[in-house]
Amino acid sequence: MSRLAYVNGRYVPHSAARVHIEDRGYQFADGVYEVVAVAGGALVDGGPHLDRLERSLGELKIDMPMARRPLEIVMNETIRRNRVRDGMVYLQVTRGVAPRNHPFPTGTRPALVVTAKRVTFMTDPETVKGAKAVSIRDIRWGRCDIKSIALLPNVLAKQHALSEDAYETFMVDDEGYVTEGSSTNAWIMDRDGRLVTRPTSNAILGGITRQTLIRLAREDGIEVVERRFTIDEVKAAREAFISSTTNFVKPITQIDDKVIGNGEPGETSRRLLGRYLAYMRDGAGACT
Ligand code: PDD
Repeated sequence: MSRLAYVNGRYVPHSAARVHIEDRGYQFADGVYEVVAVAGGALVDGGPHLDRLERSLGELKIDMPMARRPLEIVMNETIRRNRVRDGMVYLQVTRGVAPRNHPFPTGTRPALVVTAKRVTFMTDPETVKGAKAVSIRDIRWGRCDIKSIALLPNVLAKQHALSEDAYETFMVDDEGYVTEGSSTNAWIMDRDGRLVTRPTSNAILGGITRQTLIRLAREDGIEVVERRFTIDEVKAAREAFISSTTNFVKPITQIDDKVIGNGEPGETSRRLLGRYLAYMRDGAGACT
């Protein structure tokens, strides 16, 4: 079965899907995106992802390409037509097509692309592997809360990880605090058994997985503190992990040259991963 993509009102073969060379996303990275997990054919946390999409668009003064309900229908139809049970949906909205000029064009309609793909999810938290992270200075702009498609610093940061035989890069702000991973939020469990993650602000993307994990952890009686932390604290932590739509909870067992804890995925990281996998399966956060 060939993959299909939704492009501005039509479902077209993925291999033939095209946008115009003067799409402002292509020329100016003038757009935003969302990645939403699909479990058992349903969107995971679809509502919160669409809330964040609306917010990102609002901050950039780009109109929603269509109302929320039809947008959910397009996402679900893209899932259905691609026969995705477990996987993810990618959604991108740009300011649209206009002759190249910096100011916002007038009378241009936002462009919408939706794709879906299958992913085989892990199911057993006991089998999760720990990964290495490296640190790098955060060179991004001042609005990392917007889920912009302008991801060049993130791409460079991820490539830096690969070049260092690592899985993720923790970006560090000018005051020495970890902002987040190149495509993930960063967490530690401190010496006192508290889960720590940076508070939301313009310095990080407010992850939907992060938000759900804070809730699941608290329901499980784990104390969660939203505060900034340094690379030295990561090195001294009992556990560390990253979270995102595609990684769920991924233990970090080494930062730069320092092994974290005993070098194995921590008990709390595994437990939270188990909770999150169950939450996904329940369809608890689905928007339809
Ligand atoms: N990345 N921080 C950054 C910079 C991200 O790009 C992401 C998501 C996150 C985690 O957000 P969420 O939990 O909502 O996925 C944090 C997506 C998955 C990506 O770019 O592929």
